[in-house]
Amino acid sequence: MWRIEDSAELYGISYWGSGYFGISENGNLTIATKKDSPYWIELVDIVGKLNEMNLKPPFLLRFPQLLHERLRDVHSAFLRSIGESGYGGTYHSAFPVKVNQRREVIEGLLHPGLPLIFGLEVGSKPELLLAIPYQAQYDVHLLCNGCKDDAYITLALKTIQFNKNTIIVIDDVSETRLIIDTAKELNVIPQIGIRTKLYSKGSGKWESSGGDTSKFGLNTTEILEVIKTLEDNEMLSSLNMLHFHIGSQITAVSHIQKAVKEAARIYVKLQTMGANIQYFDIGGGLGVNYDSSKTSSSSSINYTLQEYANNVVSTLKTICDEENVPYPTIISESGRAIAAHHSMLIINIPGRKNVKQYEEVTVSEKDSSIVHELHDCYHNINIKNYEEYYPAAIELKEELINLFNLGQLGLEEKSKGETLFWKICQCVTSFASKEDNTSEQICKLEKYLSNKYLGNFSIFQSIPDSWAIDQLFPILPIHRLNEKPTCKGTIIDLTCDSDGEINQFVDQTHTKELLELHHLNHDPYYLAITLIGAYQDTMGDYHNLFGAVNEVHITQKNNDNWYIKHIIPSDTTANVLNNMKYETTELLKTLNKALKEREQTTETENFIKLYEKELGKHTYLNA
Ligand SMILES: Cc1ncc(COP(=O)(O)O)c(C=O)c1O
Repeated sequence: MWRIEDSAELYGISYWGSGYFGISENGNLTIATKKDSPYWIELVDIVGKLNEMNLKPPFLLRFPQLLHERLRDVHSAFLRSIGESGYGGTYHSAFPVKVNQRREVIEGLLHPGLPLIFGLEVGSKPELLLAIPYQAQYDVHLLCNGCKDDAYITLALKTIQFNKNTIIVIDDVSETRLIIDTAKELNVIPQIGIRTKLYSKGSGKWESSGGDTSKFGLNTTEILEVIKTLEDNEMLSSLNMLHFHIGSQITAVSHIQKAVKEAARIYVKLQTMGANIQYFDIGGGLGVNYDSSKTSSSSSINYTLQEYANNVVSTLKTICDEENVPYPTIISESGRAIAAHHSMLIINIPGRKNVKQYEEVTVSEKDSSIVHELHDCYHNINIKNYEEYYPAAIELKEELINLFNLGQLGLEEKSKGETLFWKICQCVTSFASKEDNTSEQICKLEKYLSNKYLGNFSIFQSIPDSWAIDQLFPILPIHRLNEKPTCKGTIIDLTCDSDGEINQFVDQTHTKELLELHHLNHDPYYLAITLIGAYQDTMGDYHNLFGAVNEVHITQKNNDNWYIKHIIPSDTTANVLNNMKYETTELLKTLNKALKEREQTTETENFIKLYEKELGKHTYLNA
């Protein structure tokens, strides 16, 4: 008897789901926009509704309420820590725009009823231009990071003229002169931050964002140079922020503590040199548990949100107390931890590849002895001898190929021999699974025989980090979770690219190469690729010209009712071609002219109509 609890454990929901995901009694994946809520939404209901509306998968589902929820959680953790430790300062959240620049995310976070966002952190001039109107509307701070030219600095300083709160974070010494000169020219008093390059590093995939050799920030000599230049220009009082960021997805809490300690010492020294630092900005890095292991593996974190906040607050407090300096306001720029949970991709599985189903083989006297040997092996293999028979079968198969290459076997004999070999392999995996045999040899064979579930999506468009940096995203069916998944496989996408395959999945301990899934029947089979709300939306590309998918924003009411707040239709092929600088009218004109010059028939007319119609449709399979 397979229970929903077995599915919950198999797919690790209680670890990565953070209290937002669950399974209903009828075996459907659920989501709730409040942690551990008794009210939830069954994802199959949303898909059913979208099907009724004639929308085609894949679907990007966004739950903007989860952005609020996560933001509130981060806030509460810091405020609790501050309250309990007696830290004399306060805490603010700044959202790093680079994590998800999509309008619905930024506007979701800046919701007027939720004044939890102190600022937007921008890392480029276009991001600054995106953020300026929101600064004007919501009176939030702008924290300006990244490479800056004179236009960037002029824009940032001009926002101060309108009495807006903009802090320009010096990331390179050369920016100091530019800020001073432009501020004088505009007659504004700038607010300046310094991004320090700490010796302490993060951990995991983004480790190189921190440390001595990091691309970002100023070393000690450069900090002293900036201080001197500011002093010489009577602008040291403008320096009000110390900033650092040691990388995203910090996997171990010890790295955070070390970095805060080092930065806190720099803070103390700057204060004693006459700076008036109010803000201690710890950057991003608060990680997300993408797998079930709760370890310091790169897709996991070995700490809770509260432990993260406690470490930051207590480390900073200890040093401020020791050195008798004022407690600065703590700012964190958590992006991943706030945005990851709010969106997921739902894909349908139109079919499977590599499914090896072979007919029974009849062997005759005319067949070569090698075929007979494979036949005997197949008939005599059993649970007691399969471990000896399997290597013998591999040798027989090699001999079969050699004999064929020497011209001693016909195609039919080769086919019979190969079929028998694969049937032996299937017996081996079936006996091994009965015995829970997970030896290296068996795992290799299972992988070789595994199914490839064809997903109606593009990894490169929807989850680029899965391809680019082997980022793990929890993947599981949204239904049939009360039914034992009896197949194992990888997930391949629609692109003609061998990299378009997911073969790392969440496991109870670490990761596994095959995912347990169900046999396909005549009903549609849907999978959810979850926790994709951070970094994926704008980094996706148009490989093989697969475009944006249908996007749907869902609001949960105060119970298990929900409604669709907004739908953003998927890209049509025409949209994607326009992005590639093709004019679809030109394409049509060219086609029309070229075909009609050859001959003009109703066939030609019909073909052109069909071509035009397809241009207006989405880029994914209709299945
Ligand atoms: C300066 C800065 N702040 C914040 C972040 C967000 O980091 P995370 O998503 O890990 O919270 C980044 C991302 O790398 C960053 O470069």
